Amino acid sequence: MSLTHHSRGKFITIEGTEGVGKSTNIAFIQEYLKAKNIPLLLTREPGGTPLAEQIRALLLENRDEKMDEAAELLLVFAARSQHLQSVILPALDKGVWVLCDRFTDATYAYQGGGRGLDVSLIENLEQCIQGDLRPDLTLLLDIDVRTGLQRASQRGELDRFENEQIDFFEKVRAAYLEMASKHVGRYSVINAANSLEHVQRNIIDALEQFLDKN
Ligand code: TMP
Repeated sequence: MSLTHHSRGKFITIEGTEGVGKSTNIAFIQEYLKAKNIPLLLTREPGGTPLAEQIRALLLENRDEKMDEAAELLLVFAARSQHLQSVILPALDKGVWVLCDRFTDATYAYQGGGRGLDVSLIENLEQCIQGDLRPDLTLLLDIDVRTGLQRASQRGELDRFENEQIDFFEKVRAAYLEMASKHVGRYSVINAANSLEHVQRNIIDALEQFLDKN
């Protein structure tokens, strides 16, 4: 073993429906891991590279032409492939931890749950683009859809997803919760309806537990 040997970084993702408080809590997690001297890269999906950010803009832009659901799915995975190869994998290989604002669970939730696309189609693309790579820890911030949308609507102009109906977000949330119950070891579900202080205590608990195991 060479002296420069280091272990592979951990891959942590944050998920949730609109207005759940992802941004505030991501900044909190970033500070928390920094204080532990863990080398960390913060990134997001769709996006995280110049090309993938352009694809993000295409996905979020409101337009008159209805975007075909399979086209949406493929754009999400096109961005993901670029992001993985040029940012995420090189960081993990160097021993840097990656904190990603959304990842493939969002595809299962939004394109699978929300749009109703066949889950096996998503599974096939996941396998094809990611191979065996899966997040090591996923924090799901969960809140009832109405409260979340009320919070999100205070942010100004709504993007193409935020403009969806409540029924769409109910399906997205249900898909997230179903995944959390299917992947208990990887997921930590945090009740985002609690006070920020309470939410952050729960996040610390989840991270401590994860750090103890790793
Ligand atoms: P956000 O990062 O500001 O939450 O916006 C990203 C939007 O993109 C959000 O509405 C969810 C959506 N999205 C998908 O539909 N599928 C995906 O795979 C990802 C990563 C995001």
